[in-house]
Amino acid sequence: MGSGNAVEYSGGALVWDLVMASINVNLPQQSYEIAIGQGTAPEGAIAPEGIGQLGEMMRNLKLGKKVLLVSNPTIFKHYGESAVASLEAAGFEVASCTLPPGERYKTLSSVQKIYDTALLNRMERSSTMVALGGGVIGDMTGFAAATWLRGINVVQVPTSLLAMVDSAIGGKTGVNHPQGKNLIGAFHQPRLVLIDPEVLKTLPMREFRAGMAEVIKYGVIWDAELFAEMEASKRLDQLRYVKPELIESILTRSCQAKADVVSKDEKEAGLRAILNYGHTIGHAVESLTGYKVVNHGEAVAIGMVAAGQIAVELGMWQKEETERQDALIEKAGLPTKLPAGVDIEAIIESLQLDKKVKAGKVRFILPTQIGVVTITDEVPSDTIRQVLQKMQ
Ligand code: NAD
Ligand code: GLY
Repeated sequence: MGSGNAVEYSGGALVWDLVMASINVNLPQQSYEIAIGQGTAPEGAIAPEGIGQLGEMMRNLKLGKKVLLVSNPTIFKHYGESAVASLEAAGFEVASCTLPPGERYKTLSSVQKIYDTALLNRMERSSTMVALGGGVIGDMTGFAAATWLRGINVVQVPTSLLAMVDSAIGGKTGVNHPQGKNLIGAFHQPRLVLIDPEVLKTLPMREFRAGMAEVIKYGVIWDAELFAEMEASKRLDQLRYVKPELIESILTRSCQAKADVVSKDEKEAGLRAILNYGHTIGHAVESLTGYKVVNHGEAVAIGMVAAGQIAVELGMWQKEETERQDALIEKAGLPTKLPAGVDIEAIIESLQLDKKVKAGKVRFILPTQIGVVTITDEVPSDTIRQVLQKMQ
């Protein structure tokens, strides 16, 4: 795990010494590294593993010469040039493609644009697509790489907190169908995940909070120590108020949690389903509000509150621990109530479309104590209804 030396907490700017970690995702077919490092090293220091190291790290993997970098215009403006420069310096031929930002554009027609650029630039079986962006870019680029020529390399360079701790790791790729989230997709593991925490400085505050939802998820489902570290922090709602030591812990412990779970159950035969904690109701809320009202992290926060309450109603979780979870969600500036106007019956109906439905029964991930969850499909609709009514 990480051996970071955070040196200063300025209460304003984020000032770090080198923070480095290397976590392995161990898989039967092809294991890969999650490298966490800073983009700018103090003079004379050993070059860290930030975006500036992308080219060299990919060269070490002996990937083919051609690279297609996929991003969105905002992220490309910030980091595209450094990524391209690093790749070219390492001898890669780089083409790039930008897609409009936002969940609304996580569609097959956006992926078509990636294919068009891949065709134009004659991307081959040995070529690599690099996703430089949040979860939306990561999921679409991963899907394009999974399907172009029946599968080429993909490298994930996540730029949002959510993508760093969750979506860039584990090989789930895909796009939305108008009727439901992530209904079209494929498992396609990256060859490398490169996390440069420096880029979080330009991440909008609302997106930082969204990422915190997935971090809180790991605390509840897997890592009680991470949960306690977050409880001890005065604030969690803005990057600049979170101590660098805690940011380092958030990144390394979350990535480790995801790597552990994915290494044990790559294709979600069992254990991996626990990563969907908060997502059952979360996905329904997201899609019923047209991906316009809440973002993915906010929807997961609402879903975790609901799942916690359901667990209490079913006598599985202590009320006091649910309250601790909800307090953390609030401290991160995330919603704990349903967005106005969402119809509860529509949520219950839309649960049937979720990928987590098995033999017509909706699968819920429910906590039994902080750090431990169980999977059940025995949640009566009336309990869901009752809990959601209290969240209006
Ligand atoms: P996102 O990709 O839409 O990014 C959020 C916003 O932040 C975008 O506007 C983006 O342009 C901006 N942004 C990202 N990084 C930035 C930076 N460093 N500086 C400035 N702006 C930046 O949303 P997200 O929260 O990253 O990802 C959500 C998506 O991830 C959803 O589609 C969700 O389904 C998916 N997801 C996938 C998995 C998986 O396992 N594949 C897991 C969790 C979530
Ligand atoms: N975020 C769910 C998963 O990766 O399995």
